Amino acid sequence: MASVPGPQFGAHEPAGHVIVHLSDTHLLAGDVRLGGRFDTAANLRATLEAVERLGVRPDALVFTGDLTDLGEPDAYRALRAAVEPIAERLGAPIVWVAGNHDERPELRRDLLGLESTQQPVTAVRDLAGLRLVALDTSVPGWHHGDLDAAQLDWLRGILAEPAPHGTLLAMHHPPLPSHIPLFDILELRHQTELADVIAGSDVRGILAGHLHYSTSGTFAGVPVSVASATCYTMNLQRPPAQVNGMDAGQSFHLVHVYDDTITHAVVPVVSAETTAVFDDAWLARMAALTPEQRLDAFSRKPLR
Ligand SMILES: [Fe+2]
Ligand SMILES: [Fe+2]
Repeated sequence: MASVPGPQFGAHEPAGHVIVHLSDTHLLAGDVRLGGRFDTAANLRATLEAVERLGVRPDALVFTGDLTDLGEPDAYRALRAAVEPIAERLGAPIVWVAGNHDERPELRRDLLGLESTQQPVTAVRDLAGLRLVALDTSVPGWHHGDLDAAQLDWLRGILAEPAPHGTLLAMHHPPLPSHIPLFDILELRHQTELADVIAGSDVRGILAGHLHYSTSGTFAGVPVSVASATCYTMNLQRPPAQVNGMDAGQSFHLVHVYDDTITHAVVPVVSAETTAVFDDAWLARMAALTPEQRLDAFSRKPLR
């Protein structure tokens, strides 16, 4: 694994894999503001700076779609220029997933250096025994999601052979309901067929985006985690029919893959004064104690 485990104080073994899950960068060519208000390039920069502050060397950076807002070649080039140097410093591969705002031909040519075609943008990555499969739920000319029989057959073929640490799927449109009506119009079609492919396979989790807010659920018994957006987020402090975008609340997910579970921590991209209670010296003091001494030193409440 690429990350360095810390001391183990709890019941679980350290995570075997760490993934940074980001979504919905919606870059525009020429640093144009999205909708005339959201500075998507600056917001991505702030997010990537936050990723570097994590102090982890992740096994992958996964971007779950809507990489650009209009599929412009210059927007894909700008995305590549923004993310690749950081991925290189972290020693992490980048997994790009297509979303409804992307255009497959430009994404393939200007981001991936591939032939410019309408073929779905799919990928299979072996992340030190953890398999990550990128699906393409985009539908050329439309904003709703879909997975056709050909892509589902391809996925079925991949999943026929289990991976040592199981499989994560990465896709733009989550196979989950939303309480916001606009997203149900744009939902993923053929979910029953997808559930059929996943059933009995080694798929342990699904990473998705599209909603511009963090949420989670299960699909066919598999946990689904939706990362919010780096560009703008949905202001959920409103009745469902009145939910709209705001330039606040951006976040990404820090995903820890353990042998027996997967956790998805939401990391807000904020600048805020932070306390200095815990540091390396505190950790070293705790590590030097027996488990009983640690409980006594850190868990015991003072007598009332
Ligand atoms: Fe989006
Ligand atoms: Fe989307």
